[in-house]
Amino acid sequence: RSGAAGTAEVRESMQITIALAKGRLAEMAEDLLERCGLDVSELREDSRKLVFYDRKNDVRYLLVKPTDVPVYVDHGVADLGVVGKDTLLEAGRPLYEMLDLRYGKCDICVAGYAEKKREEITSAVTRVATKYPRIAKMYYQQKGENIEIIKLNGSIELGPILGLSDVIVDIVESGRTLKENGLSVLETVCAVSARLVVNRVSLKTKYEAIAPLIAKMKEELEAEK
Ligand code: PRP
Repeated sequence: RSGAAGTAEVRESMQITIALAKGRLAEMAEDLLERCGLDVSELREDSRKLVFYDRKNDVRYLLVKPTDVPVYVDHGVADLGVVGKDTLLEAGRPLYEMLDLRYGKCDICVAGYAEKKREEITSAVTRVATKYPRIAKMYYQQKGENIEIIKLNGSIELGPILGLSDVIVDIVESGRTLKENGLSVLETVCAVSARLVVNRVSLKTKYEAIAPLIAKMKEELEAEK
């Protein structure tokens, strides 16, 4: 095989694809990647594009819904992903979690009406409204409590307000949404933050491209401390 063609093939296969969660975490992910020497200018342009490039560093970015980040990375369509630990716990996919990026810090909590104690809940099993059914199930299973899950996709606080559920399991960042809706944190399930995940095969096959980037991210995070 000719040397030139071989090199081109290797270069092609060394391109890394990073899936970023749209929304709250995107800007912070872009800042961190930029500090690591990557060009994120295309990502920052106001456009409807879904795929972005840093051609100099041979990096491709995908901007997708947070819940889709673990899907892209698990299927190897993206080699790396930046997404919240809440989304990872809920996805339950076999990804390598490489770094805690320490931004996007929130708690996953059980919340409801403070005065509505467990005994006062009249339904036979606690009804839990959540966009995290897997996390909620695991949490209550650990406690040995039977629950009924009501899966919602947003505005979860409406559950107890409208009597659809007794409590909610949701992320709490500032606590403002709960407060403004007359609800309180009843129990804390766990703390979450943004994480860097890697596809298990990519880590081996693209090690030379991925390892230095992870090392640089780690260095940047250490410098922040
Ligand atoms: C999340 C969460 C709460 C809110 C918590 O919703 O579901 O509603 O943020 O943040 P706070 O403690 O700072 O008020 P998100 O904004 O992701 O929208 P959603 O309701 O559409 O899920």
